[in-house]
Amino acid sequence: MKDKVRDDYERPIISLRISITNRCNVNCIYCHHDGMLDSSSEMTPDEIYEICRIAKKLGVEKIRLSGGEPLVRPDIVEIVEKVNSLDFRDISITSNGIFLDKLAGPLKDAGLDRINVSLDTLDEETYKMIVGKNVLERVKKGIIESCAVGMYPVKINMVVMNNINNDEIMDMFEFTKKHGVILQLIEIIESESCDDNDFNSKYHYPLAEFEKHLAEIADEIKVREFMQDRKKYFIDGGEIEVVHPVDNTNFCKNCTRLRITPEGKIKPCLLRNDNLVNLIEFIREGASDEELIDIFLKGIHNREPFYKEEN
Ligand code: GTP
Ligand code: 5AD
Repeated sequence: MKDKVRDDYERPIISLRISITNRCNVNCIYCHHDGMLDSSSEMTPDEIYEICRIAKKLGVEKIRLSGGEPLVRPDIVEIVEKVNSLDFRDISITSNGIFLDKLAGPLKDAGLDRINVSLDTLDEETYKMIVGKNVLERVKKGIIESCAVGMYPVKINMVVMNNINNDEIMDMFEFTKKHGVILQLIEIIESESCDDNDFNSKYHYPLAEFEKHLAEIADEIKVREFMQDRKKYFIDGGEIEVVHPVDNTNFCKNCTRLRITPEGKIKPCLLRNDNLVNLIEFIREGASDEELIDIFLKGIHNREPFYKEEN
């Protein structure tokens, strides 16, 4: 394996998550709403390519395109094509799935390996309440289409919320099992920008207890490579992965991701917004590879676990 760049806490940087827009076509109740950026100020496919090219030099192996909703960009297929020409081990997208019924095929042809689709419920009313739109059937169709065109694995991201969908986990598991999809259960993170003061007491559903139950019924349990906090539970031919970020020192200890915001800034930590490093400005000014590598290293140097053991 090529030597990886590591942060000051010895964490290798394996994956780069690029938020290519903060525009979105839905309005989920748990969303962090990362501000509004005019589409004309978004990074172009060539600029995204440049970011990935430099990241590759630093040993990044995986690219994830996210949003907002990445599929609202009309040039999404071109972006994937450009990133794919750099020959990463893995290119993936996180999407709400609404445009997938039409785009799964073209994205796969452009080089997309896999997709994670947000789907928190199979109940139409609950879906509309969480997302703000009644597009459940379309999203389900998009998931099935993604599997049909050969994306693998396809994952469903289910943010588990107290008294909203926590009783639906096993129904969702049946759905994912039937379609050969992985169910990723995500513990909700309180949003800084959410105006609901009661967010945590209303929605937070601790997944640690549920994981104990999964451990009892699982045929096999595996831990993900480089991500010791993410366990995979294999049950009756299906697979459940659990992400619990809240107050979890392992979540941070094993974080191997670096992020890029839609404004083209390096975001060292999912859970912080106060230590970003501007990158796109330098790309636009024609900085050399050496200068861009230095900027990346500055961003990597700013990485600090949000939850530390001594806390
Ligand atoms: P894969 O594991 O590659 O399938 O992707 P993922 O599960 O990380 O990506 P996805 O976009 O589906 O995000 C699911 C969850 O991952 C999020 O809800 C977060 O809890 C967690 N996550 C997202 N970004 C980061 C990050 O920058 N660092 C860490 N540690 N976790 C993240
Ligand atoms: N808490 C936890 N997970 C969240 N996601 C979005 N907002 C939150 C939140 N407040 C999840 C969605 C999306 C993934 C990238 O992050 O499931 O698919």
